[in-house]
Amino acid sequence: MPSVRIHPLVAAAHVHPYPYYAALRNEAPVFFDMEHKIWVVSRADLIMQLMQSPHCVVRPPKEPVPAAIVGTPAAEIFARLIRMNEGQAHLPLKQAIQCSLARLDTACLPQLVKKWRSAECDLYALCHFVPVAVLADLLGFAPDTRPELMGWIADFVACLSPLSSEADLAGASVAAQCLLAHFTLLLEGDLAQGSVLANLVQDSEGADRQALLANLIGLLSQSYEATAGLLGNCLIALQQHGMSNDLPLTSFVEEVARFDPSVQNTRRFVVQDLEIHGQQLRKGDAVLLLLAAANRDAAFNAKGDDFAQGRTDRRSLSFGHGRHSCPGQTLAIKITTAILSDYLAQEGMADPLQWRYQASANGRIPRFFSHQEKAI
Ligand code: HEM
Repeated sequence: MPSVRIHPLVAAAHVHPYPYYAALRNEAPVFFDMEHKIWVVSRADLIMQLMQSPHCVVRPPKEPVPAAIVGTPAAEIFARLIRMNEGQAHLPLKQAIQCSLARLDTACLPQLVKKWRSAECDLYALCHFVPVAVLADLLGFAPDTRPELMGWIADFVACLSPLSSEADLAGASVAAQCLLAHFTLLLEGDLAQGSVLANLVQDSEGADRQALLANLIGLLSQSYEATAGLLGNCLIALQQHGMSNDLPLTSFVEEVARFDPSVQNTRRFVVQDLEIHGQQLRKGDAVLLLLAAANRDAAFNAKGDDFAQGRTDRRSLSFGHGRHSCPGQTLAIKITTAILSDYLAQEGMADPLQWRYQASANGRIPRFFSHQEKAI
């Protein structure tokens, strides 16, 4: 039991979870949280070991889809996401997604940011709307033809959170239905030659159509809150640590992604008994992997608690590791850098920011507000 205590499932949205993470790493890098019935792992080497282990999988085998959404359209999407599945059957689509994202030409990013960042865009829209609109446009999803697309994505991600209310889940279900109908129509239409969407359809020929549809939605929904959080955390880091103009802006964004990640943790489920750091994990156990704690592990990054834009040997688990690592990592960093660059050129950093973190079990996503307002 570590000497500094926070409920591990509220740490992500806690004002300052890092002393707790440090206490965990130093005193109990693998410990069983009796109250929440979950193993909590905080050291980088141990987390990477579990992420690579075939004995740990991304969903509990008895609950491939969260019980709260079983039988809804949201479950149709969730059940087919490569992020939520293991095994050979999902490999061809996973590889097609990785290849098409890696081949993406991002030269037009500055123009896309200008297109989607209207002058009156507030900080909420800047973080929650602009990145996903830019991504959708870049991938060839033609978001201007259906402005509701962004709202559906926002509503759909509610089904990914264990904190969602019944109303959130009902909204996610409606959004899932709309998204499936929209993407079905999109695939039936003329796809922009050379777009990720066109390449993906070509590369995944023969793959299950429903799986392709679900994973197209997955590309937007999986980046939505994570990128909103990264951009928001960049604005906070600018205020708290400043930025060196002698170094590329990308290095600032990468350091924020390491230092104060928007995805603070992820989970695994044990399918075969295993021993780690002297602890016996049993089949059926759940494990919380504290990616944000690992990034500051001294054995992983020297002086991990220091914000250092100029790090030359930066290492990070913010985008995962092993067979489920994020195929959108480079893209997320580029989109965030392009938006931040445009924002700073237009607005500078005038007013001191005020924020609180959105309630979340794994995301660190700030909501900004002014002196007069409550956080939206
Ligand atoms: C700052 C932004 C982002 C962060 C912090 C982030 C983080 C992550 C993490 C931690 C994982 C691994 C989860 C696990 O292993 O449990 C992951 C997986 C994934 N991410 Fe991202 N992501 C971001 C943006 C994106 C973008 C822009 C895309 C798509 C264009 C994307 C698509 C995916 C997909 C498809 C997976 C599942 C990969 C698999 O299971 O094989 N992400 N992401």
